[in-house]
Amino acid sequence: MRKPLIIANWKMQLTLPESLRLARTVIRLARASHAQRSVDIAIAPSLENCVPIARLAQRTSIAICAQDCFWESKGAYTGEVSPQRLREIGCSHVLIGHSERRIHLGETDDMIGRKMNAVSAVSGLQPVLCIGEPYAIRRAKKHLHYIKHQLVTAFRYIKKTTPSRIIIAYEPVWAISTAAQMGESAPLKSAPDDCAAMVGAIKKIVFALSPKSDVSVLYGGSVTSQDVTSFVAKGIADGALIGGASLHSGEWKKIMSSISSS
Ligand code: PGA
Repeated sequence: MRKPLIIANWKMQLTLPESLRLARTVIRLARASHAQRSVDIAIAPSLENCVPIARLAQRTSIAICAQDCFWESKGAYTGEVSPQRLREIGCSHVLIGHSERRIHLGETDDMIGRKMNAVSAVSGLQPVLCIGEPYAIRRAKKHLHYIKHQLVTAFRYIKKTTPSRIIIAYEPVWAISTAAQMGESAPLKSAPDDCAAMVGAIKKIVFALSPKSDVSVLYGGSVTSQDVTSFVAKGIADGALIGGASLHSGEWKKIMSSISSS
């Protein structure tokens, strides 16, 4: 059985010195505790900090996860970065289609599909496809249909081989700590049984799309040390994508110790 995967999504929150300090703490805690044996850890720093943090994490099992990438390998695309360059600078994972990008940057399911295709073609680079419904969709009870559409479109673009490992991060927009900034009236907490039902539904859809893949579904949305083990557990999610709580070394320490002792 796979170890749970915990990804610390630092978004655009930290300066270089702050990122280095926090990365050193994450590495030290992973070495000092049993965390490394029982959890797979990835850090998702902002792009400019991926290189120095990848260097720091070189001889550890901590993976570096980029927060986004473009769908072309090379060309006149000012401001973009290709999956190949991310691999070169030491990233092994990349988030695709985070709801903050869908909402603030207007990323569509089609753009996300192209990114899935581009990342899947790069050996050693694992896409982490982020999906999740806004509250209005949930209230209208159309969330399953919505999620299915997000998944089907993303997979439709993959031309050659679907990755043998598929990682999906299910993050209901209304449960993310930045929900209010994304136009949701108030951030709400998700319940573990609801999370379990969604993870089950997502696995079924992905299995139908790609029967041979090994699928992990992470949960994200205001996860803290208080509730991480109610989401990351057998029969619920296979890991977590953690934003706000991953920025505080004290919280991170508690998250690691809860997960490794659960
Ligand atoms: P949050 O962020 O834990 O602060 O809700 C999760 C995410 O947006 O990936």
